[in-house]
Amino acid sequence: MRDVDDDVDLKPPAALAAIQRAARDHGFAMSCDDRTGALLRTLAAARPRGRVLELGTGAGVSTAWILDGMDGASTLLTIDSDAAVASIAAAHLGGDARVTFRVGDAEALLGELAGQRFELIFADTWPGKFHALDACLDLLEKGGHYVIDDLLPQTTWPEGHAPKVEALVETLGQRGNLVLVKLCWASGLILATKR
Ligand SMILES: C[S@@+](CC[C@H](N)C(=O)[O-])C[C@H]1O[C@@H](n2cnc3c(N)ncnc32)[C@H](O)[C@@H]1O
Repeated sequence: MRDVDDDVDLKPPAALAAIQRAARDHGFAMSCDDRTGALLRTLAAARPRGRVLELGTGAGVSTAWILDGMDGASTLLTIDSDAAVASIAAAHLGGDARVTFRVGDAEALLGELAGQRFELIFADTWPGKFHALDACLDLLEKGGHYVIDDLLPQTTWPEGHAPKVEALVETLGQRGNLVLVKLCWASGLILATKR
């Protein structure tokens, strides 16, 4: 294997190209990249009959990768506050009975889900990542995976975002009930497992 192989022969989900095209046409540029998607798919595949939570559906790029890894008995709950963007995901993936799309605020959903457990959480928006972190991690099953991306500096970051990312990385690293690895790869990820 060579490092340049990261993006080679990933066998993307069938719906991916059409979703990426629709996202581009809509002007949505926040979808995860293929390496991140392939990692999410691999983690989803490790959880037969798994419950997966995605915060920040976007146009459905990460959703498509996660669904591609899940077995037939797994379920995915995904939420986005932007109805227009999320409608792209629903249009391409809504026929899959394993996925439930919600439009609304992820923080409110985290409150609503209190007491439930998920084996995989991809926190790809503000709540569950930069705030409401406890509420999100409380939902993670022991042995479950919590994934975040966009941790490496990006030219598109607004003023004052870098210190927030640093603080998030530090606070996650200090949590005794998380075993984590920092991946300076793709957009920069943390993969954490709950003890
Ligand atoms: C990084 S994008 C998600 C990209 C998607 N996960 C992917 O990789 O294809 C973040 C999304 O969070 C949504 N969002 C922003 N604030 C939110 C909130 N409070 N609750 C739910 N979604 C929110 C935005 O509309 C945007 O689609």
